[in-house]
Amino acid sequence: MSEQLAMVTGASSGIGEAFARELVRRGYAVILVARRLDRLIALQAELGKGTEVLAADLATEEGMGAVAARLSRGGISLLVNNAGLGFRGLVVDQPEASITRLVRVNLEAPMRLSRGAAAQMAGEGRGTLINVASMGAFQPVPYLNVYAATKAGLLSFTEALADEVAGFGVTVQALCPGNIPTGFQDVAGTKGSRFDRTPSMSAGEVARRSLDAALQGGPTLFLPARMDRISIFAQRFLPRFVARRVAGSLLKSE
Ligand SMILES: NC(=O)c1ccc[n+]([C@@H]2O[C@H](COP(=O)([O-])OP(=O)(O)OC[C@H]3O[C@@H](n4cnc5c(N)ncnc54)[C@H](OP(=O)(O)O)[C@@H]3O)[C@@H](O)[C@H]2O)c1
Repeated sequence: MSEQLAMVTGASSGIGEAFARELVRRGYAVILVARRLDRLIALQAELGKGTEVLAADLATEEGMGAVAARLSRGGISLLVNNAGLGFRGLVVDQPEASITRLVRVNLEAPMRLSRGAAAQMAGEGRGTLINVASMGAFQPVPYLNVYAATKAGLLSFTEALADEVAGFGVTVQALCPGNIPTGFQDVAGTKGSRFDRTPSMSAGEVARRSLDAALQGGPTLFLPARMDRISIFAQRFLPRFVARRVAGSLLKSE
């Protein structure tokens, strides 16, 4: 029996690690992508020999190129573009380099890898692509500004791509989690904020529910928690400036 092959970026921690575990549980061989090789190797040892490790920094041309090259070898029927990070604070206090890093990892890399994967999958007449956006994609978020802007861009790109490739047997899902306890809060510096106390679910549940929906061919937009759906509903019907102020109040220093 030939095993299906998946690739997960940002597999060294949090939601990506949970996707890798869940995919292996469902019988996939998985290519694990991230920078921290030690963590990838430890996960590979746990998940078994079918697992492959690819250390790459998706903020660099070289890293994006290495992952794209692996994709172009073909055979990958499911890609999770999950690697991502945020920085809390005022934009004016952020070094330009961190803005570049966020735009590359959160937006440029998933767009380029989606393009490569979708072309490959459309050629094979089947495939599943999951792009991890965020609830932050639905309104501007003061104090998590660049992060929310990259996620809004990724959501827009992913939903448009879903329509473009729907006729070729390729399912594209924009996954929009709320606040999930992972390494994200440490990297972004959101610990202790009101955001940190918003409703939450485990990374394992996010991965399970995302794959359940995507492998059934839809819906392309996946909104996990009930509270999140209420909040999306509110965002659609509240004036945009109200949604933005509420989001900013969750991230502002108290
Ligand atoms: N946690 C939340 O509340 C939440 C909510 C909505 C959306 N999300 C999204 O979920 C995704 C996963 O985040 P998480 O919550 O699981 O956070 P996490 O535990 O910090 O994991 C982030 C992953 O991204 C990888 N990564 C970061 N920079 C990278 C780079 N330059 N090159 C390659 N890989 C890189 C990290 O690996 P290395 O450090 O080893 O490179 C790590 O595996 C992100 O896209 C995030 O925006 C998270």
